[in-house]
Amino acid sequence: MQPLRLLDANRNIQNLKILLRVDFNVPLQNQQVSDATKIIKVKPIIHSLLQRGAKVILCSHLGRPQTKGKTGFSLAPIKQEAEKIIGNEIEFITDNFKATIDQKIKDGKKLFLLENLRFDPGEEKDSEIFSKLLAETSDLYINEAFSCSHRAHASIHGITKFIESYAGETIVAELKALNAIMLDSKKPVTCIIGGSKISTKIDLIINLLPKIDYMVIGGAMANNFFQHDGYNVGKSKVEDNIEDTIKSIINESKRNKCTLILPMDVITATTFEDPGSDKPLDKVNDKDMILDIGQQTVLQIQEILTQSKTVLWNGPLGFFEKDQFANGTNAVARAIGELTENQKIISIAGGGDTFAAIKKSNQENKFTYISTAGGAFLEWLEGKILPGLKVLEK
Ligand code: 3PG
Repeated sequence: MQPLRLLDANRNIQNLKILLRVDFNVPLQNQQVSDATKIIKVKPIIHSLLQRGAKVILCSHLGRPQTKGKTGFSLAPIKQEAEKIIGNEIEFITDNFKATIDQKIKDGKKLFLLENLRFDPGEEKDSEIFSKLLAETSDLYINEAFSCSHRAHASIHGITKFIESYAGETIVAELKALNAIMLDSKKPVTCIIGGSKISTKIDLIINLLPKIDYMVIGGAMANNFFQHDGYNVGKSKVEDNIEDTIKSIINESKRNKCTLILPMDVITATTFEDPGSDKPLDKVNDKDMILDIGQQTVLQIQEILTQSKTVLWNGPLGFFEKDQFANGTNAVARAIGELTENQKIISIAGGGDTFAAIKKSNQENKFTYISTAGGAFLEWLEGKILPGLKVLEK
């Protein structure tokens, strides 16, 4: 990948209008922001641009209003939360973007937020008309939404044809962290992959295998490996028609001399309300659901972590939303957090669920880097070119 275009820190941006593509696609519960991490992340950038005298026009998408309807997808509640976090009044612009912003600037306003970009069908279609409409609001464009850069959408991709465009500081930070794994990682490198569907992670795993020493697989996706090895997985979640995928992961890990580590014991329950019991794999019965990794597996992973210098984590290791099945995920999060704090490892984690799990175990400030990106994080690690970054190359 070529270096990205960055805005010169000494450039005079006094009174320039800067369109800042942020990711305010944050979780809402009863129209209240339940996790504001993505907003907090861009706060210093917004402050710095305002201090340099620029007018800042924030823009973001929220959810999928084109398929689900607009109700519940307005950025209005996010505007309120952002005002509290950023500490500045924000003008909410719902239509007639350029004329409304220009009038409000005359009235002395400095910070703006456009309504959900996906309310316009042109956003997801990467339409020229919508790209131009966004571009004409501003003098410069900065993309601070790494997590959206896998989308060839108007506000990420098309717009760059019509306005002077740059990659923002959060994108630079994200790429630096990801390159620590992919380009100059200190060995041994351990990768922990969890979550429920192996089919969504196959490209990631295959692309990582040549670069890493230990691949730990947990979460429901490990169930398919148990089946492959002839174990009964009872009523556990499994994917159909996945045997070839399992075989190719096993073969590729051997070919790349990467040690594949699967749970040796598991926490099972017959309902989600049960406390759960720790069983070796050969004791799982027809009524059981596998819902977490067991204690022996936790110890094994902890041991591997102590031998590692770089750790990448994506995907929880159990049904962590329920406390009785969160022990494996929490214990691994604590082990990584502690080793990072003691400067024994470099740790990078990413993905929406992974971030939520790390936060639940209060380890979010201990990791070297946690990406809030989901799809973009995975696609980058899969070796794909992100269209939103490609258009910002020098
Ligand atoms: C994310 O939350 O990962 C980004 O906001 C991208 O969202 P999307 O999957 O709706 O494009």
